[in-house]
Amino acid sequence: MTAFLGFGGYVPEKVMTNDDWAKLVDTSDEWIVQRTGIRERRIAADHESTMTLAYEAALVALDDAGIAATDLDEIILATDTPEVRTPDTASFLQHRLAAREIASYDLGGSGCAGFVTALDIARSRIAFEPKTMLVVGVELISRMISPKERETCVLFGDGAGAVVLGPQGGKAELLAVVSGTDGAMTGILTLDVGGTKRPFDPAAPEGHDHLTMHGTEVFKQAVHRMSVATGQVLDKIGATVADVDLLIPHQANKRIIDAVARRLGVAEEKVFVNVDRFGNTGSASVPLAMWQARAEGRIDPGALVVLTAFGAGFHWAAAAIRFD
Ligand code: ACO
Repeated sequence: MTAFLGFGGYVPEKVMTNDDWAKLVDTSDEWIVQRTGIRERRIAADHESTMTLAYEAALVALDDAGIAATDLDEIILATDTPEVRTPDTASFLQHRLAAREIASYDLGGSGCAGFVTALDIARSRIAFEPKTMLVVGVELISRMISPKERETCVLFGDGAGAVVLGPQGGKAELLAVVSGTDGAMTGILTLDVGGTKRPFDPAAPEGHDHLTMHGTEVFKQAVHRMSVATGQVLDKIGATVADVDLLIPHQANKRIIDAVARRLGVAEEKVFVNVDRFGNTGSASVPLAMWQARAEGRIDPGALVVLTAFGAGFHWAAAAIRFD
């Protein structure tokens, strides 16, 4: 079995409202709320980095699990906004946590589906060899967006979420995970500079060094993939949508979340939403939401919780969890 031993999350202190964005780009609170449901998001302070956000969330998860960093056997960190290009952020985190010299690696580039995909990997690692694992989803997207793309920049926020997993005990059981990829869709959501195809060139004209997106295509794919993945993971455990106590979708956009709930036939009160407060925090969105849902008493004993996410790639994943 794969057990959740602890949950954690962290968001930076600084709040940026829609009105704050409207002072920088041609937008308005009304447009953003109507199109996305987002009212505010958190922005990392200058002294913070992807690793420090991950570190704060990891400390909360370790504390919740009642273990020390030295008890960890492996770390997976999902992010699309790493500390540096090489080495991976997990190396920085392993050092900062003062963990033992354990395998620590990033799952990079899976976009907002990264954390749930990392759960799938962790599950098979634990089944292969019982161990205690830290899985983190973290994003510091505010440093990778540009006010030149008003359709994109207002959507995102910074944050981190983390879980500690083990082979037994704990507070919840990971019952099943599904994940998938459609590589024909790489162009609809991309930061296409900095790889070998287009090495970063500081002299290049501006406008190609940040995240770009085909909003309507991403919207359609997001609704389709998250709905189908949710159905698939429920099939795997012999459950139906009626059995779901709480759906925790990737918090990209309230309209996407509503469309997924409608398509699946899940009542509004069974869907967790915090995109209004934090915007889209990428790989952090699902673990952050799960941590908050638990802290806010939204997860009753015995609850069946389904996580579902999509991200650049195009990737998607869903997980079914039974809480104790
Ligand atoms: N403020 C004001 N106007 C804007 C803004 C803005 N921030 N951004 C775009 N507009 C304008 C456009 O220029 C366009 O104007 P035009 O009609 O004069 O050309 C108009 O608004 C676009 O309007 P719509 O097409 O009606 O906008 P839509 O309802 O499609 O909403 C949005 C756009 C919010 C981006 C939507 O397509 C969407 O949510 N897509 C999915 C985005 C998303 O969640 N991406 C995921 C990010 S990554 C991840 O989570 C994996």
